[in-house]
Amino acid sequence: MRSEMKTNSLRRNTVLVGIQWGDEGKAKIIDHLAESADIVVRFQGGNNAGHTIVVGQEKTVLHLIPSGILHTNTVNVVGNGVVFDMSVFLEEKTKLEARQVDVSPKRLKVSELCHVIFPLHQLLDRARESAKSKIGTTGRGIGPTYGDKSMRLGLRLGDLNRPETAKARFLANYHEKLLQLKELGQTEVPPADEMWAQCLETFQKIKPHLVDTSRFLNDESKAGKQVLFEGAQGTLLDIDYGTYPYVTSSNTSAGFASCGTGLGPSQLHYVLGLTKAYTTRVGSGPFPTECLESDAEVGQWIAKKGNEFGSTTGRARRVGWLDLVALRRACEVNGVQGLALSKLDILSELKSIKICTAYELDGKRSQNFPNFDLERVKCVYEEIEGWPNFHGTQKENELPKAVLQFIKRIEDYTGVPVAMISTGQKRDEMIVRV
Ligand code: IMP
Repeated sequence: MRSEMKTNSLRRNTVLVGIQWGDEGKAKIIDHLAESADIVVRFQGGNNAGHTIVVGQEKTVLHLIPSGILHTNTVNVVGNGVVFDMSVFLEEKTKLEARQVDVSPKRLKVSELCHVIFPLHQLLDRARESAKSKIGTTGRGIGPTYGDKSMRLGLRLGDLNRPETAKARFLANYHEKLLQLKELGQTEVPPADEMWAQCLETFQKIKPHLVDTSRFLNDESKAGKQVLFEGAQGTLLDIDYGTYPYVTSSNTSAGFASCGTGLGPSQLHYVLGLTKAYTTRVGSGPFPTECLESDAEVGQWIAKKGNEFGSTTGRARRVGWLDLVALRRACEVNGVQGLALSKLDILSELKSIKICTAYELDGKRSQNFPNFDLERVKCVYEEIEGWPNFHGTQKENELPKAVLQFIKRIEDYTGVPVAMISTGQKRDEMIVRV
């Protein structure tokens, strides 16, 4: 029965999403699932993501290229919902080539509909951060590029194949951005012609990878190929359902896997939501279970043991306890059918572990995640006993009893079964239950 279920779940098109504030360890799960997938596709975000895969002694950090690339059986696709930094793509490609990874257009395809991140977008992102918004962005130009997309000012990769018309639109946008940048005190901006020439030159190297990825995915799907959708960031950073305005600029939830790839919603068969056994957040914004005051020391201990530093910006991540109120909301928003748990092993050797099971706001207790006033809620915690070290185990019957109780509590609260348990950073340090 078990192996039958396993085969069934692996045959379906799976969407993997982070269901916290990102950095849940998605790359490792993608790398694991990619073993039995044909296509791995990213559907949102850009190089604000930092996906780390460890194979043997070798560590690979990817920001834009899908995390399935290390599996030779997969074709990897950057879908139309992604905002695309051409230089970052080429840098990653070069690094992978140096390790003999096949990154030819046959294996690595990019949607001609991806919106292009220009240096102007990065300048604007950083200037806004230092002058105004203090969202704590990654400074990669993600917000301004999605902003231009919505304002209908952006350029898509395929537009660069039509340089005459694209240049006029680029220049109009350039002059508008220049005014904004000056207002924000940023006066050192490369000249428009230089920027445009550079962009067209770089584009020539991207061009062989461009396709109508929706066409490709639909054809392949009809031919019975299995697609794995790789989410970036996490649900609490979703532009609609995250802790607005302290969010990223795209829909990070599973529903967008369809819009961001052009493969219809009926093709999303299984949604896997990934959570750490605790919570982290980079950048500003409310974080109810953050380890502060009497928990500050244990928070630092977890941060150090869990190496909680951003793989994109190197920033220290804020650390807190597992928040079941937020988790259940994320399960609902994504329609999560199975949970994957990461970093349970990091909590080992703690005397006791806290789990937030309700919030109190203005004297009222609730298990519902509020859309406003999150910064004012007080957490209600359950405290469970800690567990001994089990790092790297691949067998469920080797998990300490307290870990199994912790897992059961998550399942009971969210109503979602735990399907995968990651027990370490390496590829094979994993327990698959269904
Ligand atoms: P942006 O996506 O660079 O605009 O940043 C907006 C917010 O999302 C900031 O708080 C970032 O720290 C956060 N963020 C963006 N990408 C990631 C990620 O991959 N992991 C965790 N946080 C992220």
